Amino acid sequence: MNQRAFIEVQNVEMRFFNTRKGSFFHALHEIDLQVQRGEFITLIGHSGCGKSTLLNLIAGLLRPTSGVLLCDNREIAEPGPERAVVFQNHSLLPWLSCFDNVLLAVESVFGGRELKRRLMERTEAALELVGMGHAMYKRPHEISGGMKQRVGIARALAMEPKVLLMDEPFGALDALTRAHLQDELLKIVARTQSTVVMVTHDVDEAVLLSDRIVMMSNGPAATIGEIYKVDLPRPRERVALAEDARYIAARKAVIDFLYTAPATETRPGGLGDEPQGLAGVSHRPARHAHVERAA
Ligand SMILES: Nc1ncnc2c1ncn2[C@@H]1O[C@H](COP(=O)(O)OP(=O)(O)OP(=O)(O)O)[C@@H](O)[C@H]1O
Ligand SMILES: [Mg+2]
Repeated sequence: MNQRAFIEVQNVEMRFFNTRKGSFFHALHEIDLQVQRGEFITLIGHSGCGKSTLLNLIAGLLRPTSGVLLCDNREIAEPGPERAVVFQNHSLLPWLSCFDNVLLAVESVFGGRELKRRLMERTEAALELVGMGHAMYKRPHEISGGMKQRVGIARALAMEPKVLLMDEPFGALDALTRAHLQDELLKIVARTQSTVVMVTHDVDEAVLLSDRIVMMSNGPAATIGEIYKVDLPRPRERVALAEDARYIAARKAVIDFLYTAPATETRPGGLGDEPQGLAGVSHRPARHAHVERAA
């Protein structure tokens, strides 16, 4: 049976038009991606390659220059409550408590059809889920960075989105807090069966969390270079995984892609006034039909 993917990105191009010069920057080229319901996908690639742009297209915060994005068979034309976004910098309202920050989002989705008491129950449950029950009446400036990020995740989960979109949600955190939240996220996603698309710079994070890792080439005109299927059973436990041959193979495949790919020519399409990825890091060739690999 030819079942349609839950999220479909079809032949997407993204150009940012620079009204100052009347020119444009070609950010994404021929992006094709299918995400199945319940799948955990990470997007990885060098800084500036277009990960956030692709995530924002799926969120409906940006519209593609050409191509189509679908979620659950509907065209993505604008942001919607079925696609909740967690940004790197939590973006909580500083004058509201953690509880009220989450409640605001809950009200925006369920307010029209549920009683206040039920909305408050939903809010409390989401904060409990991320281990923030004890601090829910504190305001953002009274809690740590990791706790703020947890509230951001609670806010997204409380909306019961079909898709959780996360842009480096743990990027600003120290290694221990980060590991702790990764473990929590694994448990939460196992419980909620959410479909997740997450941007990360962190190879270990990508391997630990993902069903598939989408590796993007450097821009301009960045595209999907390879997709690696992480063939590790769940639940995953980081200490045990460290010595698992499949974990090591997955890690190596991503590192090879990011750091040891042979240099190729820069692809046409951009303005040429943008940094070409990290200094000293080579470019991947543009390939429309990206390679799918597994351990
Ligand atoms: N609004 C915009 N106007 C012009 N160019 C843009 C705009 N937004 C992004 N770009 C360019 O598009 C490219 C991709 O940007 P994007 O933010 O998606 O990269 P990224 O992979 O998320 O990088 P990072 O890892 O540093 O967050 C970059 O070269 C960026 O300068
Ligand atoms: Mg980004």
